[in-house]
Amino acid sequence: MQIFLTEDYTSMCRKAANILSAQLIMKPESVLGLATGSTPVGIYRQLIEWHNKGDLNFNGASSVNLDEYQGLSADHPQSYRYFMDTNLFDHVDMDKARTHVPNGLATNAKEECKRYNGVIRAMGGIDLQLLGMGHNGHIGFNEPGDAFELETHLVELAETTIQANTRFFEKKEDVPTHAYTMGMKTIMSAQKILVVVSGEDKAEIVAKAFAGPVTPEIPGSLLQLHPNVILVGDKAALHLLMEQEEVQ
Ligand code: GLP
Repeated sequence: MQIFLTEDYTSMCRKAANILSAQLIMKPESVLGLATGSTPVGIYRQLIEWHNKGDLNFNGASSVNLDEYQGLSADHPQSYRYFMDTNLFDHVDMDKARTHVPNGLATNAKEECKRYNGVIRAMGGIDLQLLGMGHNGHIGFNEPGDAFELETHLVELAETTIQANTRFFEKKEDVPTHAYTMGMKTIMSAQKILVVVSGEDKAEIVAKAFAGPVTPEIPGSLLQLHPNVILVGDKAALHLLMEQEEVQ
């Protein structure tokens, strides 16, 4: 694993955006696996800035997002489709028809998972997958204890995840209890994985995920088995991991 330690959130975003743009420059027709959450927001902002300057194009690329809440429409302000549109797609020259997010309103969950796996396969797999990490080590919405060998599936969100997401909704009752997520099997089959973390509140889980045992209780720990992972994090998020690495 390659680790980039940065001073703060802004420099973390800049480094991660540089890696994503290198991917797009070297392979304009890349399939990008994209993520939501607060961590990637600054990365997308940086990419938009470079696009506006004329340094970066997305017109050959396609994307596939990690997850989506079940029950939210594409235009719901808390849906991940809406997040991606407003934080990235609406501001760059990417063909929206080639951007994919699970359909939160699908009536048949099993069919939707099958459809989404088909979309990823038809694209020829993911070149670079961007990932954040939840406080309990979840990746996408692969919660602790979720089987490692799954592709896209519907999950019941952990109570801690619902709590963490309550800040985005008016009241706790509005937070969806289920979500579609790419499974760890799909994520692990990406050619390259870019994990981004920021803030002291992630320090403990980052150290456990990357220096502790590989266990389904910490889905992020599975990334230790991937041959091409880049971890970009600020000091606050990486200091415990760096201390452990020094001891070893
Ligand atoms: C959500 C998303 C994850 C994301 C996580 C962390 O649960 N489904 O993909 O990694 O939040 O979010 P944040 O970056 O806001 O800490």
